[in-house]
This record gives sequence, structure tokens and C-alpha cells, in this order.
Amino acid sequence: MTSVWKYLVLFCVFIPVFRALNSNDILIIVSYDAFRNEYFDRGVTNFTNELRKNSTRSKFMRNIFPTKTFPNHHSIATGVYSDDHGVTGNEFYDFELEKPFNYSYEMFHYRSEIVPIWILNEVSGGNSGCMMWPGSDYLYNGISCTHKQHFNMSENLHERVDQVMGWITNKTSPANLVMLYIEDPDNHAHAFGPESQQITDLVGKLDKMTEYLYKKIKEKSLESRVSVVHLSDHGMDSLQLTNVVDLTKIIKHKVSYYGNTPVMQIVPVNSSELDEIYKELKEASESTQKFKVYLNSELPDRWHFHNKYRVGPITIVAELKYGFHDMIDAAKWYEKAFNITFNMTNKYGVHGYDNALESMHPIFFAYGSRIKSFNEVEPFDTVDLYYLFCEILGLPVPDYLKGNRDNVMGILKSEDGARRMNRWVVLSASIILSSMLVSVLMIFMKIWRRNRSNIPSYLYEEDTTVLDDTKILNSTSQPPTLSTPLATSSTRFNAF
Ligand SMILES: *[C@@H]1O[C@H](CO)[C@@H](O)[C@H](O)[C@H]1NC(C)=O
Ligand SMILES: *[C@@H]1O[C@H](CO)[C@@H](O)[C@H](O)[C@H]1NC(C)=O
Ligand SMILES: *[C@@H]1O[C@H](CO)[C@@H](O)[C@H](O)[C@H]1NC(C)=O
Ligand SMILES: *[C@@H]1O[C@H](CO)[C@@H](O)[C@H](O)[C@H]1NC(C)=O
Ligand SMILES: *[C@@H]1O[C@H](CO)[C@@H](O)[C@H](O)[C@H]1NC(C)=O
Ligand SMILES: *[C@@H]1O[C@H](CO)[C@@H](O)[C@H](O)[C@H]1NC(C)=O
Ligand SMILES: *[C@@H]1O[C@H](CO)[C@@H](O)[C@H](O)[C@H]1NC(C)=O
Ligand SMILES: *[C@@H]1O[C@H](CO)[C@@H](O)[C@H](O)[C@H]1NC(C)=O
Repeated sequence: MTSVWKYLVLFCVFIPVFRALNSNDILIIVSYDAFRNEYFDRGVTNFTNELRKNSTRSKFMRNIFPTKTFPNHHSIATGVYSDDHGVTGNEFYDFELEKPFNYSYEMFHYRSEIVPIWILNEVSGGNSGCMMWPGSDYLYNGISCTHKQHFNMSENLHERVDQVMGWITNKTSPANLVMLYIEDPDNHAHAFGPESQQITDLVGKLDKMTEYLYKKIKEKSLESRVSVVHLSDHGMDSLQLTNVVDLTKIIKHKVSYYGNTPVMQIVPVNSSELDEIYKELKEASESTQKFKVYLNSELPDRWHFHNKYRVGPITIVAELKYGFHDMIDAAKWYEKAFNITFNMTNKYGVHGYDNALESMHPIFFAYGSRIKSFNEVEPFDTVDLYYLFCEILGLPVPDYLKGNRDNVMGILKSEDGARRMNRWVVLSASIILSSMLVSVLMIFMKIWRRNRSNIPSYLYEEDTTVLDDTKILNSTSQPPTLSTPLATSSTRFNAF
């Protein structure tokens, strides 16, 4: 009985104090889809360039293969490669479930123990705000972001910043982590090409949005608490329709194509024809030098692209500036969406190529209360970022991460003496306070019990009441932990 009370008191006093201690820091992660490093040199990002000088920056980040949106956003959010998180493309065929996936619950639920940073933050007592971030539409182990906005291209950039600031300043559940996604410059660069004036203008608009974000942070007097990580998922290159390789002219057998330029998954209709199909592709690859072809066993290890259910059996990857016949349909789609007409020499934007290529590299810089100023770090991997996020938010680090913590620790200010002191003072004070409260309560209980012995027992059933309360406590108010996955592999596809 006393132990129940002890836990209750610990729960009521210690946890909130501990949370308050850790929740002082606010982290905003801003992703500008397909922002390539060269855009900083176009003379339209004056604010951002000054901010970068003042921040910790790197010349680029090393993203994951394929350099596509969903795989990379999910690696930023989970700290693992597509081998482990299972998002091997924006679309792909899954051999376990025997069906193709596009953006869906199943796409983002490959291993239930691997959860995005916004879920780890929630189960640790924080409040996450997810602004259109890929994969944030779904529950993970039954949990989702406290604040959430589904993808909506009509919501303009300033509106998104306002909404996000509203989450952070929310009185009842203030967000301490925000994932802010912007679909541009990707969206327009696909249609107009990264070299176009449209993209230069758009990059200028993104600069204004970034400036607006900092203006709002200042207005709310949050500078001493906020750290902002600015990044992209991949870069962008261009392609002309003259450089399209028509695979249907190369492959003589019946196959299904999944994915899109420049990475495609080729699945024979008759699996015993695999060798012949591979041979046809290999010959064309060698004679044209426009693409590479891989069996699963031949995929380079540096891609961490060995997911046995969601890759292969044949993967083809176009060389830079080349693409496959799906581009013809894509061009038609963009013509309609943007009211433009393509000819054979139009350049339009493509990404997804080998992550070793410079034009595929994403941007990184960070600025704020926990970040070193006027600092540059060596390029690091997007899977390393999870360590940085955990450190800023004071979250426990999962043991399955695939990044390297040392690569990102140079981004953070060393914890200064005052801060460390503060941490210890609050920690000690909360332990003493908890113990004192437990003692007082125990004395109180003893007195209460003594007085109560005069009351007939049927008026009051000590054990049942307390036990019932405990049951309620256990069943409803216990925060779910990461070590108890609620969605097992057999149930992971019907939870939504
Ligand atoms: C950006 O800075 C350059 C040089 O400092 C200046 O010429 C230009 O007018 C500025 N652009 C804007 C949009 O403020
Ligand atoms: C960058 O730092 C300089 C000098 O400390 C300061 O004057 C300027 O306002 C800062 N700019 C931004 C965008 O943070
Ligand atoms: C996604 O897949 C579903 C079912 O396979 C299909 O109906 C839908 O058109 C696809 N959406 C896109 C954007 O490809
Ligand atoms: C998308 O955003 C626009 C502009 O804010 C709004 O008018 C519209 O209702 C939103 N659509 C949905 C489905 O939320
Ligand atoms: C604060 O956030 C909660 C949870 O999303 C929401 O229900 C509430 O309306 C918000 N409060 C304000 C003042 O926006
Ligand atoms: C599959 O291919 C093999 C080898 O070419 C052939 O012998 C077999 O008849 C094919 N099966 C079907 C169902 O077409
Ligand atoms: C599409 O563009 C053409 C010519 O550039 C213009 O006449 C037409 O009004 C546009 N259509 C829409 C729906 O914007
Ligand atoms: C193709 O389109 C571009 C952009 O619309 C234009 O500048 C170019 O002259 C066109 N080329 C031909 C051959 O029509």
C-alpha cells in the first residue's frame, strides 16, 4: 500500500520536474525539399547566407540511396538506412506482402521497434508538432504527434510558420519538437529544372520564409530556448527527354516496373526468366553506358540498400542526366499540373541518382541556443542527425541507430558550467522533495489508519479501493514505452 503511494508521489513530483528540466529546449527541424547547395550562390538568399555564416554549417550532408524524398526524410527521422526502416523508394514492390506501395501506412511500417524522433519525443513526455513531414500522417505503436498538419500544398509558407509557432506557444501542450516540411524547391524544379529563373525566384521566397521564422522566434522571446536545424533531403539535377532510355525496347520478356527514374525495380513475371532479363539489361548497360544494372547480391554496400523484401530482384540506376521511359508520362503530368509544354530540349529536374554525386547532396546548417556559432563541421551522414536531436531534446538514444555520434557532437555548444550546475541543483532538489513528500504522506497515512480503526470495516475497504485505483493507473495513464511494441509484424498493417 505504501509502495503504491510512493510511486504515485514519485510520478506526480519527480517526473514533471524532470520533464521541465529537459523540456526547456525547443528543436525545430526545417526541411526544404531538394534544396541543393548551389542555390546559396544565386544572390537571392542574403538572409540565409548571413545566418549560415553565424551558424554551424557543413559544405553538404551525405544522404542515403536512393536520393529520393521519402527514403531520406525517414532516415533523418529514424537514424537508420532503408535496410532497416524499409522505405526503399517513393514507390516500390514489397515481396512479403506481394503488392506495390506508394505513400501509405505500410510503406513507413517495416520494423515496429524503429520509430521516428517525434514518437520518441512523445513517449518521453514531450509534445511533437508535425507539419506535413513525410510519414507523420500515421500512428507508430499507437502514437502520433500532438500537433499535426497533413500535406496541403495550398497552405503558404508564412501560414506554416505561424501554425508551427502556435504549437510551440500552445498553453496546454507546448511543442518542444517541430518537424517543418516544405515541398519546394523540389516541386517546381521537377517542372522547370533547377537552372531556371523560376527556381531562383522560389529560392528567394524560401529565404524570406526563413527570415520570417526567426522574426517570429524573436517576437515570442524564444531565442534562448530554440535551436533550428535547416536541411534538405537531396539535391537536384536536370534531364532532357532526348536522354530517355526506353527499357521496353531492351527487355524482351514480360516484366513489371516499379519505382521511377532514375531508380527502378524490375520484377520478372516468370521468375525463371530472371537470368535472361538480367543478361539483356547488362548488355545494354555496357554498350550504352547510360545506366547500371544490379542483382541484389551486386548492390554496393555503401548504399545500405539490401532490404530483402523491398528491393530487386533487379535494380537499374540511370547515370546522371539520363532517365527511363517513365519520364514521358511524368512530363505529361507536369505539363498538366503546371500548364506548360515540354519539347525535347526542355530541361527538367530529376533526383534519386547515386548519393555519391555532388548535385544529389543535401544542405545542412543549424542555428540557435544549443548550437555553436561561426562554426563549420566536416560533411556527415543524415543518419547521424538522430544523435543530435536526442542530445538537444534530452532523449534516450535507441540502440539500433546506424549513424556516428562523434560526427555531430561538434555542432553543439559544450554544456556550460552554469547549465550543468542547474541540472544537478534541480535534480537533487526534486529527489529531496519527493522523499520528503513520501515521508509526510506515510506519517499521514499512519495517523489516518489509527483513527480509522474506530470506523466499522464495511464502510471502507482499503485494499479494494487502492487496488482498483492502481489498475486504472496501470491501464490508462502509463506512458507506452519503446520496449513494448504494440504493433507486431502480424498486426502492423491494420492498425490505421
Ligand atoms: C543581397 O545582397 C547583395 C550584396 O550585398 C545586394 O546587392 C542585393 O541587393 C541584396 N538582395 C536583396 C534581395 O536584398
Ligand atoms: C549574425 O551575426 C552578426 C554578428 O554577431 C549579427 O550582427 C547579425 O545580426 C547576425 N545575423 C543573423 C541573421 O543571425
Ligand atoms: C497508390 O496506390 C494505390 C493502390 O495501389 C493507387 O490506387 C493509387 O492511384 C496510387 N497513387 C499514386 C499517386 O500513385
Ligand atoms: C489547405 O489549405 C488551404 C489554405 O490554408 C485551406 O483553405 C484548405 O481548407 C486546406 N485544405 C485542407 C484539406 O485542409
Ligand atoms: C493546444 O493544443 C491542443 C492539442 O492540439 C489543442 O486542442 C488546443 O486547441 C490548443 N490550444 C490553443 C490555444 O491553440
Ligand atoms: C517460365 O519460363 C520458363 C523458362 O523460360 C519456361 O520453361 C516456363 O514454361 C515459363 N512458365 C510460364 C508459366 O510461362
Ligand atoms: C495555360 O497557359 C496558356 C498559355 O500560356 C493560357 O492561355 C491559359 O489560360 C493557361 N491555363 C490555365 C488554366 O492557367
Ligand atoms: C523548347 O522549350 C523551351 C522552353 O519553353 C524554349 O526555350 C525552346 O526554344 C524550345 N525549343 C524548341 C526546339 O522548340
